[in-house]
Amino acid sequence: MNSRLKDVNDLFERARPIVGQHAPEIQKYGMIVRLPNALSEEACAASVQNLNQILADTISLRDLYKKHHWQMSGATFYQLHLLFDKHYEEQNELVDTLAERIQMLGGISIAMAHDVAEMTFVPRPPRGREEVPVQLSRLLHAHEIILKETRAMARQAVDYGDDGTNDLLVSDVIRLNEMQVWFVAEHLAETPLVRADELAGDAEGP
Ligand SMILES: [Fe+2]
Repeated sequence: MNSRLKDVNDLFERARPIVGQHAPEIQKYGMIVRLPNALSEEACAASVQNLNQILADTISLRDLYKKHHWQMSGATFYQLHLLFDKHYEEQNELVDTLAERIQMLGGISIAMAHDVAEMTFVPRPPRGREEVPVQLSRLLHAHEIILKETRAMARQAVDYGDDGTNDLLVSDVIRLNEMQVWFVAEHLAETPLVRADELAGDAEGP
């Protein structure tokens, strides 16, 4: 082979995709890479662990919204179908915010469904369709799990001096979940749809 042809072949090799590559992980789950962020490794590790729990539960709640968006039925189909997709999108943004906060603290964020299923505190729903009040109750329960753990973890972040994580947990996670709880819970108030319940008023008297 002349040298010019060899050069052409060498160049062509660069255009060939190298697929099927394998190598050990460069950072195991649970390990912290120190970044110059003026936080101790202990603080980063504590926040990463807490944030991963909230991430797993937020991914579960996000997917619960999509499940019920698809499986909605009945007289309130249209409004709840749309509301659930709105809440899904908002939770999806939160998932990205949480995962990137974990990475910027030098940690590893969980990502795949198998790992989420092992970690989450949100109870597994059945595959099939449930009645609307059950769907709503399931969503509210998941929200309450997240709110309870997030408030405790926000206080822990303050103790470690991790103000960024505290701000994210309070300003993004808690506020969004409280807002969504309000919108979902009001659908479970048993108010008359068409005719006012005059008898109930009479029973209370003037
Ligand atoms: Fe849709």
